[in-house]
Amino acid sequence: MAEKHFKYVILGGGVAAGYAAREFEKQGVNPGELAIISKEAVAPYERPALSKGYLFPESPARLPGFHVCVGSGGERLLPEWYKERGIELFLSTEIVKVDLASKSLTSKSGSTFIYGTLIIATGSTVIRLTDFGVQGADAKNIFYLRDVDDADKLYEAIKAKENGKVVIVGGGYIGLELGAVTKLNNLDVAMVYPEPWCMPRLFTAGIAEFYEGYYANKGIQIIKGTVAIGFDSNANGEVTAVKLRGGGVLDADIVVVGVGGRPLTTLFKGQVEEEKGGIKTDAFFKTSVPDVYAVGDVATFPLKLYGEQRRVEHVDHARKSAEQAVKAIKASEEGKTVEEYDYLPYFYSRAFDLSWQFYGDNVGDTVLFGDNNPESPKAKFGTYWIKEGKLVGAFLEGGTPEENSAIAKVARAQPSVQNVDELAKDGLAFISKF
Ligand code: FDA
Ligand code: NAD
Repeated sequence: MAEKHFKYVILGGGVAAGYAAREFEKQGVNPGELAIISKEAVAPYERPALSKGYLFPESPARLPGFHVCVGSGGERLLPEWYKERGIELFLSTEIVKVDLASKSLTSKSGSTFIYGTLIIATGSTVIRLTDFGVQGADAKNIFYLRDVDDADKLYEAIKAKENGKVVIVGGGYIGLELGAVTKLNNLDVAMVYPEPWCMPRLFTAGIAEFYEGYYANKGIQIIKGTVAIGFDSNANGEVTAVKLRGGGVLDADIVVVGVGGRPLTTLFKGQVEEEKGGIKTDAFFKTSVPDVYAVGDVATFPLKLYGEQRRVEHVDHARKSAEQAVKAIKASEEGKTVEEYDYLPYFYSRAFDLSWQFYGDNVGDTVLFGDNNPESPKAKFGTYWIKEGKLVGAFLEGGTPEENSAIAKVARAQPSVQNVDELAKDGLAFISKF
C-alpha cells in the first residue's frame, strides 16, 4: 500500500484532536497538510456528553449535535468542515505500530503514514475488571463507557431492560454520573465502591456526604467499602448477579463499570520519555523526541502554578493543551515562541439537577461552607483548600456562572487566609471580599 505523507499528523480523534484541528485552521494550514487518524468511526466530539445527555430517557443527545467545539461554546466542526479545508480525517483507522525514529505510523490494515510533526492525542482507555481476572467479568451486559460505540450498547441495554436492576461498580466520575442517568431511566440502581466515600480523589468526606445523601434520597442504594469479586450469569451468558467481597450479592440485569482510566501510551513505549504514567512534555507539549508533541490525557506536563509535572484527565485541559501545542508548533516554524502553558486545573460534573465546579489544587486543610443538606430544595455549598496559609482550591455546588468564575479567580490568585474560622463563616462571601 502506498505511503501517505503529511506535514502534520494528529494520532487520535477525540477532544484534543478536534480542538487542535480548529487551532491549525486559525493559525493557517494548507489543504493536504494535516491528517487526523482515529480508530473511532466519527469525527471528534465532546466526550463528556456520553455519560450525560447521550443516555437521557427523553430526547437524548446524538451526533452530529455534539461534535467539537460546542462544549466550550465554539463552532461545531462537522465532517464537512474538515473536508472543505483539506484536512484529512482517517476514521475507523487504528494505528498499531509507531516508529518515531522513521516518523512513520502503521495502521491495522497495513497503511503507512509519514509525518513531519506528530501530535499524540490517544487519550485514555478504561480499566477492565477482566484485567484483574475478576470471575465472570466477561458476561454479557457488563458495560464500560469510553466512546460512542460503548454508549450505544449501554443505551440499547437500558431500553431492553425496562424497570430492571443496574449495579454500578466504582464511585468515581463514571460511577456518579451513570448512577444518576440510569436512575433517570427508571432503573433500580445500586452503587458499589471500595472507599469510605465517593470520589475520594477529589471530594472530602463533607462534600461526599451531600452527594451520597442526595443519591440515597433518589432511591439509589450505596454500598461502600467493598468490591465486586465475581459475577453470575444465565444460560444466555447475561449477567444476573454481582458477588461482593464480604459475602453480599446484588441482583443485576445491567452492570456499569467505572474503575478508572489508563492513558494510551503503549504504542510509544521505549521511544519517548515517560513520567507519572504519561508522556513527558515541556510547557509547549513537546516530548523528548524532536517534532513529537503529546496533549490531553496522555501528557504529563509542567503545571507551572504548583511547580510540578502532572497529568490531567479532564476535558478543559484536553482542549487547552491541544491549542497550546498547535500554537507552539506554528510559532516555532517562524522562529518564534509562545508563552508557557500556565494551567489552572478545572474539573466539573453534572448529575440530576446538580452541578459542581472545582478549580485549583485539592491539597491541605479544608473548610466546608454553605448548605450541604441533601434535603434542601436548592442546596448550595462549597469547600476551600488551604495550604501553607494560602487558599489553593475551591469547590462549589450549585453556583451561578458569576460565582463559578469568581472561585476560579480565587484559586488562581491563591490569597492568604488569616483566619480559617472566619473563612468558614464567610463562605462564598469570601470571594466578594477578595
Ligand atoms: P480522547 O479519549 O477524547 O480521544 C482519544 C482518541 O484517540 C479517541 O478517538 C481514540 O479512539 C483514539 N485512539 C486511541 N488510540 C488510537 C490508535 N492506536 N489509533 C487510532 N486512534 C486511537 N471531563 C471533564 O472535564 N468533564 C466531564 O464531564 C467529562 N465527562 C466524561 C465522560 C466520559 C464518558 C468520559 C469517557 C470522559 C469524560 N471526561 C470528562 C474526560 C474527558 O472526556 C477526557 O479527559 C478527554 O476526552 C481527553 O481528551 P483526549 O483527546 O486526550 O482523549
Ligand atoms: P475514577 O478514577 O474517577 O474513579 C474510579 C473509581 O473506581 C474509584 O473512585 C473507586 O471508587 C473505584 N474502584 C477502583 N477499583 C475498584 C474495584 N475493584 N471495584 C469497585 N470500584 C473500584 O475513574 P472513572 O470514574 O472510571 O472515570 C474514567 C475516566 O473518565 C477518568 O479519566 C475520568 O476523569 C473521566 N471522566 C471524567 C468525568 C468528569 O470529569 N466529569 C466524567 C466521566 C469520566
